[in-house]
Amino acid sequence: MTRMTKILTLSALALALGACSNIERSRNLGNPQVSGYTLAQQVCSTCHGGNGITANGTSINPTYPNLAGQQAIYLETELQEFHDHTRKDPAARDMMWGLASQLTPEQIKGLSEFYAHQKPMPNPAHSDPAMVAAGEKLFVAGVPEKSVPACASCHGASAEGNGPIPRLAGQHADYLYKQMVSFNSDAGRETHPEALERPHAVVMDAISHGLSNEQQLQVAAYLQSLQ
Ligand code: HEC
Ligand code: HEC
Repeated sequence: MTRMTKILTLSALALALGACSNIERSRNLGNPQVSGYTLAQQVCSTCHGGNGITANGTSINPTYPNLAGQQAIYLETELQEFHDHTRKDPAARDMMWGLASQLTPEQIKGLSEFYAHQKPMPNPAHSDPAMVAAGEKLFVAGVPEKSVPACASCHGASAEGNGPIPRLAGQHADYLYKQMVSFNSDAGRETHPEALERPHAVVMDAISHGLSNEQQLQVAAYLQSLQ
């Protein structure tokens, strides 16, 4: 190596190290240079699980959905909806809008790929066995008399999801229940489709309407218990 190449290599290395070690800079959401991976470690892990060094997408607090092993296409769609402010339930407004509105398309893609590749973990929360058994029946067979199709027909036999259809296995029951309530909150939907709290809610809206409150709690308990 010539002296000049050595100097150039060393300064490139110093620049690269500087960029990584400057946590404030990597927390800077508005900076398009920061990768999805770094954002996951430094920003998203605060709520969605991990310790700032190893984001794993498995959260302990049921307010924050697990992201590990979620379908990449679904994650990308949701982040785009938070970015565009079209997914607008109160928790989304309070906690996801500000962050997501600053993400670039590359960062959204990077974050989605990162979380899709994390290993989903069993949910440690206790689900009541009677609720789980009732929920399993709903998941497998739906509610024919109310024209509710089997959840498994779209979400997969193990609730693993498929492309734009989310994985539900191991997700926090409280979060799942809250989403079903949100799909249901369609006041004025006929005249104002933008009133929907989630823009791709049309299918789930009809399904949530066919389930009683008790049935929504049961199917959520069952899903939480799945690995
Ligand atoms: C301050 C806490 C907080 C931080 C930080 C945070 N989130 Fe969230 N996130 C939430 C909450 C709360 C929800 C659930 C919103 C709801 O109930 O609609 C959520 C929902 C999501 C969802 C939708 C999941 C689903 O199953 O539909 C995705 C995807 C997501 N967050 C990704 C991220 C990414 C990527 C980051 C980092 C750039 C991030 N979040 C940072 C609190 C947070
Ligand atoms: C016809 C296909 C289809 C069927 C059947 C179906 N779902 Fe869904 N479900 C979807 C799609 C698509 C989404 C994503 C909606 C979005 O992007 O906003 C979804 C989203 C969800 C979510 C939100 C997950 C999250 O991470 O925020 C829950 C909870 C859910 N479904 C529960 C159920 C339950 C319980 C059943 C059975 C009673 C069921 N679904 C049946 C297509 C379906």
